[in-house]
Amino acid sequence: MSNIQEKIDHYTAELKNWKPTSAQEVEDFRLRFLVAKGILKNLFEEFKGVSNEEKRVLGKVLNGFKQAVEARFNEMKVKFGETQLSTKQNVSQDLTLPGPGFTIGGRHPLSLVRKEIVEIFKKLGFIVAEGPEIEDDWHNFTALNFPEEHPARDMQDTFFIRKQQGNDIALRTHTSSVQVRMMENGKPPFRAIMPGRVYRNEAISARAHCFFHQIEGLYIDEGVSFADLKQTLFHFVQELYGEGTKVRFRPSYFPFTEPSAEMDISCTICKGAGCNMCKYTGWVEILGCGMVDPNVLENSGIDSKKYTGFAFGMGIERIANLKYEIKDLRLFSENDIRFLRQFETEII
Ligand code: PHE
Repeated sequence: MSNIQEKIDHYTAELKNWKPTSAQEVEDFRLRFLVAKGILKNLFEEFKGVSNEEKRVLGKVLNGFKQAVEARFNEMKVKFGETQLSTKQNVSQDLTLPGPGFTIGGRHPLSLVRKEIVEIFKKLGFIVAEGPEIEDDWHNFTALNFPEEHPARDMQDTFFIRKQQGNDIALRTHTSSVQVRMMENGKPPFRAIMPGRVYRNEAISARAHCFFHQIEGLYIDEGVSFADLKQTLFHFVQELYGEGTKVRFRPSYFPFTEPSAEMDISCTICKGAGCNMCKYTGWVEILGCGMVDPNVLENSGIDSKKYTGFAFGMGIERIANLKYEIKDLRLFSENDIRFLRQFETEII
């Protein structure tokens, strides 16, 4: 008979007498019998060299032996594995210890700033309104007094989804579209702010992105004047940037407001002395605003003889840049955990 048979007999006897008393012995067994250069593998190697006749008989014996080894090993592994676990639990686990902590994320800086702005306006009685990001031509442009083919449409590089004479569908370029929806669906007075994501077809760089976030505001009632606009925005700036922050209004143009203005605040970083952020002017522009054009009121079904109102719009990124001195817009959308972690302390 072959050498293999003798070895199998020898190991089978050993297997019968094998009564391990520790997990270590089970592991030693595995290392002897079951690894790549272990006893079983070697026997199978040797088996390749025997004659075909012998193979017929030995094959069965060898496979039987293999199964016996594995079965015994598994049995012992379970036995000692379990014992080990239960000893551990009994001896070394102190159930009175506090549980392991888990990490919670922080708010995104843009969410923090949006929340802060919303809170300020809420105290003035403004509600929050939202609308769709995919908008039709009417709500994004026409109702807002952008005549067709008017160059003002080029002010905002639009992502069109469907181009169809007079019935285009696009990603909204501003949340002014929500103002129209609100006026169409309700009755004055209106006092609301509209936060949301807007899209413009711009090359992505440190200073521009193909999407950003806005908060627009609308206040419509009888007898609302430019003085109300100024006082509301002045109050907002004092709340957000602190007492003493100066504001100034510069005449501007928007199709949906008349008169229109851009509002600057004294640079929050250099306090007006001149720095990179304010391009050494001491002032930074933070929003556009104006008295709602009577055409817009009429387009939305509001009697422009009875009601007047103001509107304003600002980019949340711009406000956050000033607050946190973030120099590159792309950081807001890259989800780099090293950037986001810096805001984790401001969870509440
Ligand atoms: N919709 C304008 C923009 O996106 C901002 C704005 C809103 C200006 C309301 C005036 C009044 O640039």
